[in-house]
Amino acid sequence: MEIKEIKINELNPEKFIDEKIQEISSTVGDGIAINALSGGVDSSTVTMLGHKALGSRLRTYFIENGLMRDDEPQQVVSLFKNLGVHVEIIDAKETFFKALKGIIDPEEKRDKGITKTFYKDVFGKLVKESGAKFLLQGTIYTDIEETVAGIKRQHNVLEQLGIDTEEQYGYKVIEPLLELRKDTVRVVAKHLGLPESTYNRMPFPGPALAARVIGEVTPERIEIVRKATTIVEEELANIDAFQYMAILHEDRVTGIRSGKREFGRQIEIRCWDSVDATVATPTCLNFETLEKLADRITREVPGVVSVTYNIAKKPPSTMEVV
Ligand code: XMP
Repeated sequence: MEIKEIKINELNPEKFIDEKIQEISSTVGDGIAINALSGGVDSSTVTMLGHKALGSRLRTYFIENGLMRDDEPQQVVSLFKNLGVHVEIIDAKETFFKALKGIIDPEEKRDKGITKTFYKDVFGKLVKESGAKFLLQGTIYTDIEETVAGIKRQHNVLEQLGIDTEEQYGYKVIEPLLELRKDTVRVVAKHLGLPESTYNRMPFPGPALAARVIGEVTPERIEIVRKATTIVEEELANIDAFQYMAILHEDRVTGIRSGKREFGRQIEIRCWDSVDATVATPTCLNFETLEKLADRITREVPGVVSVTYNIAKKPPSTMEVV
């Protein structure tokens, strides 16, 4: 890998920010750039850098792919409104669910279901409409590392896989955070004036809840994992962990409810201790917390009869399941 990492103790945030603003300005010139904001720390940092470099010549979109958590689009738009950045919501729910229909294989889900739909179908159209020649995005060092190593294709890695975005999608990609890992991005985010809820925000993957559904991604199955996610995030809000999540399994198991057999669904909970997501260990949650999670999930999420907690480390596990 040719990119040289800037480690957290080597970072001079002010200098980094100034240099990136300069780079974005000189690359885009007097043209237009677009970017997708999910509200995560990486895309929020890129949005602020782009906003400072280009002002209204940066068009920022929240892609409503139908795979986000409860109320996420509205929260992100209103947070950025307070920071003076206008964000437009693009309703692409149908496009994504159509593309994901029938796909079971994880890499196909990421590649055909998410990456192609995002960059070609949704962004290709936005680029044409807006006249933009550049897409600004928050790819970080770890994304490249894992994708190039063939572990997991991160949805946002393109040029490093030999994809010529100009030829295939009609725009060039600018990636100001390539040299940083997540912990270092957080420092930059803080120096850019983003609120703590953003710079300390728990990571959430680009493929969103589709990374947490084993088997076919349908609106119904996403709704189940979304409900379980809300519960896990509420119950673990005060836990000092890197990331926690709910996963919907494909296999069903026999359960019993109101004295009757229920061939029900299984939810797996994962909660990770990690610094930069390269390696991770399951958090040692106390049993009462786990029991409360299981009680709420089996009661509040329709059809769930089994709740498990993952105790395997990364590696050989990965943090998401897809
Ligand atoms: P894995 O599952 O690879 O996850 O151990 C490591 C970290 O990366 C996040 N993740 C992603 N983030 N696009 C992203 O922006 C992706 O395709 C993607 N896949 C995983 C994951 O949530 C964890 O923090």
